[in-house]
Amino acid sequence: MEKFVKLIYDDKSFEFPLIKGSQNEKAIDIKNLRKETGLITLDPGYKNSGSCKSEITFLDGEKGVLKYRGYSIEDLAKKSSFLEVSYLLIFGNLPTKDQLSKFKTDIDNESIIDEDLKVILKSFPKSSHPMGILASLTSALTAFNPTALDIKSEDEMYKAIVMIMAKFPILCAWTQRKVKGLPLNYSDISISYIENITKMFFKKPNQEYRNNKIINSAIDKLLILHADHEQNCSTSTVRIVGSSYAGLFASISAGISALWGRLHGGANQAVIEMLENIKADGGDISRYLKKAKDKNDPFRLMGFGHRVYKNFDPRARIIKKTADEVLSKLGIDDPVLDIAKNLEKIALKDSYFVDRKLYPNVDFYSGIIYRALGIPTEMFTVMFALGRLPGWIAQWKEMRENFEPIGRPRQIFIGSVDRDYSSIETR
Ligand code: ACO
Repeated sequence: MEKFVKLIYDDKSFEFPLIKGSQNEKAIDIKNLRKETGLITLDPGYKNSGSCKSEITFLDGEKGVLKYRGYSIEDLAKKSSFLEVSYLLIFGNLPTKDQLSKFKTDIDNESIIDEDLKVILKSFPKSSHPMGILASLTSALTAFNPTALDIKSEDEMYKAIVMIMAKFPILCAWTQRKVKGLPLNYSDISISYIENITKMFFKKPNQEYRNNKIINSAIDKLLILHADHEQNCSTSTVRIVGSSYAGLFASISAGISALWGRLHGGANQAVIEMLENIKADGGDISRYLKKAKDKNDPFRLMGFGHRVYKNFDPRARIIKKTADEVLSKLGIDDPVLDIAKNLEKIALKDSYFVDRKLYPNVDFYSGIIYRALGIPTEMFTVMFALGRLPGWIAQWKEMRENFEPIGRPRQIFIGSVDRDYSSIETR
């Protein structure tokens, strides 16, 4: 039986349908609110607003649950691979052997970038932020592949997906190679998707590249853990940009810009910068904890807290183990990472953080791993974007296939009402 939620306004009673998700999440369907009552809702930051119905990712922030298409993140991180998880997110089911092998071959066939794109990359100063370069190159892909996608055609949709899955890792690797002053290389299609990614990132021009299992496994896990996170800031951006019928590459380029900010994907860079500052400032962790707790000080402990995980971040639990493994197996001795370990230990016992349920999030540990692997700090958010790619694709595809209306929130206007124009001389 359908249930309703009653709203009483201006002595009139209105009923709005109560809808339920497959995990018993409840929402009031207010599609007709303005039409029936003349009211809109005001919800800055969309803390209480669902923007869509989605079948892709479920998360329960109170219980620390994260599932892609019904599979737990713990299971996927342990048993799957990034390419398989990408297929799962985008197409809805785990692939068969044949499907996965076809997906890989199709990606391999598209893993070439127009040489002219190198000219664009070359024109960026070396000091550019990698996220700015990546957003621009991704947007430029649209110019090199200008055909509009007919979203009703399964073939065209598949081709666009394969193209971006193939070209995006090359753009990410080129961005790092540009920053490091290394020659731009191409994919090696004879090895796995993840081995190829690490090879493109780390191959030195004067030595043969040797695949390192610890590095491959750490990168694979990190990419899986970042692959989707339902309607976060960058994903909502991708969906809203795509809702105007902007293409897949253009929408993803917008998502990259949204991810850049330090309250979102930029947090992993901010974590290491914060740790470096603490070290440069004498390593006094307690002084920084005091600053984080002081309401008159804008400083926040980067890598702590999360908008939706209010008990623990399940991704952080998985990746903490990987971080410990990478540090011990690669024999890393880094005073900045020692500060990270001590900061984590002290903050987890501090009542300010315990009472507010502020725990290290995935980016606290991902920054530590990326640093240990020798990835430049400014590249960390690019690694996040590389992981988030299949999520953005899946969400964009779902939005277009569901023919969602163009995203266009309303506002409550609080500015001046009527003002008479006065000439500049009289102001
Ligand atoms: N350091 C110190 N205090 C904090 C922190 C922090 N990192 N995070 C939250 N708080 C405090 C707030 O000041 C607030 O205190 P109050 O109740 O006394 O006023 C309380 O904890 C609740 O915090 P909110 O700001 O309401 O939490 P919100 O959900 O709005 O913010 C956010 C979440 C943006 C992630 C925040 O925790 C933060 O800024 N963290 C640091 C940045 C970061 O690590 N971002 C990465 C997120 S993960 C990702 O994007 C993949």
